[in-house]
Amino acid sequence: MTPADGLMPAADGLPASVHGSPLPDNGPAAAAPAGRADARAARKPNLAVVGATGAVGGVLLGILSERADIWGEVRLIASPRSAGRKLTVRGAETEVLALAEEVFDDIDIALFDVPDEVSARWAPVAAAKGVVVVDNSAAFRTDPDVPLVVPEVNARAARARPRGIIANPNCTTLSMIVALGALHAEYGLSELIVSSYQAVSGAGKAGVDVLRSQLSAVSGTELGTTPGDVRRAVGDDLGPFPAPMALNVVPWAGSLQEDGWSSEELKVRNESRKILGLPDLRVAATCVRVPVITTHSLTVHARFEREVTVAGAHEILAAAPGVVLCDAPEEGEYPTPADVVGTDPTWVGRVRRSLDDPLALELFVCGDNLRKGAALNAAQIAELVAAELTGH
Ligand SMILES: NC(=O)c1ccc[n+]([C@@H]2O[C@H](COP(=O)([O-])OP(=O)(O)OC[C@H]3O[C@@H](n4cnc5c(N)ncnc54)[C@H](OP(=O)(O)O)[C@@H]3O)[C@@H](O)[C@H]2O)c1
Repeated sequence: MTPADGLMPAADGLPASVHGSPLPDNGPAAAAPAGRADARAARKPNLAVVGATGAVGGVLLGILSERADIWGEVRLIASPRSAGRKLTVRGAETEVLALAEEVFDDIDIALFDVPDEVSARWAPVAAAKGVVVVDNSAAFRTDPDVPLVVPEVNARAARARPRGIIANPNCTTLSMIVALGALHAEYGLSELIVSSYQAVSGAGKAGVDVLRSQLSAVSGTELGTTPGDVRRAVGDDLGPFPAPMALNVVPWAGSLQEDGWSSEELKVRNESRKILGLPDLRVAATCVRVPVITTHSLTVHARFEREVTVAGAHEILAAAPGVVLCDAPEEGEYPTPADVVGTDPTWVGRVRRSLDDPLALELFVCGDNLRKGAALNAAQIAELVAAELTGH
């Protein structure tokens, strides 16, 4: 199967358990008053989308329109700048409301797709009103009282949410973790060395706008042949990036942290450890931005406790929910962002056993950073919670 076949646009290949059938009870859920819980079980849950006008929010509205419609009301929320705008979800034009405490009245689950500081302030406000928050920002991901959930890997963790908040992982981690979770279950992961090739939409709408305008500036020219010629052509407005993105790759994503690491690189390390339940996992990541609109790619060197084989890894990946194996280099078949964009699964190719280490595999992984990397994973978590709340 190749992504170029155009297979599975928006089909995620996930098992029923990830689409909302009940999970075994394995921990305390956020407390809800008994009366309210009974009332909730009797009707379809109401959903709020906070950040509906953004890059992730826009994709989420499409996903909500495509997937099984389990929701009562879907309420759209953004900043006061967007209040009154109309967006389409589930085929209906819906007015955007400005974020305020009262917009969470009668809401059961809220998906937050807003900047970190907005989530940090408003997610607890919603949670205090009994709303289960699924947050896409980095504000709560490392909080020990907030589970970090990927339904194919650790769905049960979503049930233990003392703060009423569930965190959605960072798009770079999410673009590889479903495949790695499947391999870990068989071989026991001990070390990860990854390099990312991250799309500009990972930096939001502003990232996409700046790449498109830079591509117009360099299109049809002979630029890219002398130092600084691209920089001069694209001008000073680099948007959210530290260097031109057109005709370039930039070894930087996120903010500067201690000892030269970027925040994105530390997220890959911390979040992989938390999702897989491996607090001592050795992780080294180098995050690189590339001139791709949407779909992150990663090269992965994964070392395991047990000896690996390519045939064994193929078998695991071919059977793993949410993963598509696309690995026939002799026929030119491997995933690329241009083919994977707009699809739901994690695509894996170039599977090799390390030449110098029988415990290690080399992989190339692609995943749409706005779908599984953000909106789809959050929608899947919301569906898990909805099933739990309604007892279905
Ligand atoms: N892009 C990705 O690949 C990706 C992947 C995973 C996670 N995330 C995370 O998801 C979140 C959203 O990212 P994005 O890429 O969609 O960003 P974006 O395109 O910049 O959109 C931001 C959204 O937040 C809203 N917003 C901003 N300030 C607000 C405020 N004070 N009150 C209420 N709403 C406010 C915006 O509303 P207005 O339109 O009204 O300004 C907009 O809907 C971020 O935390 C990001 O780190 C992004």
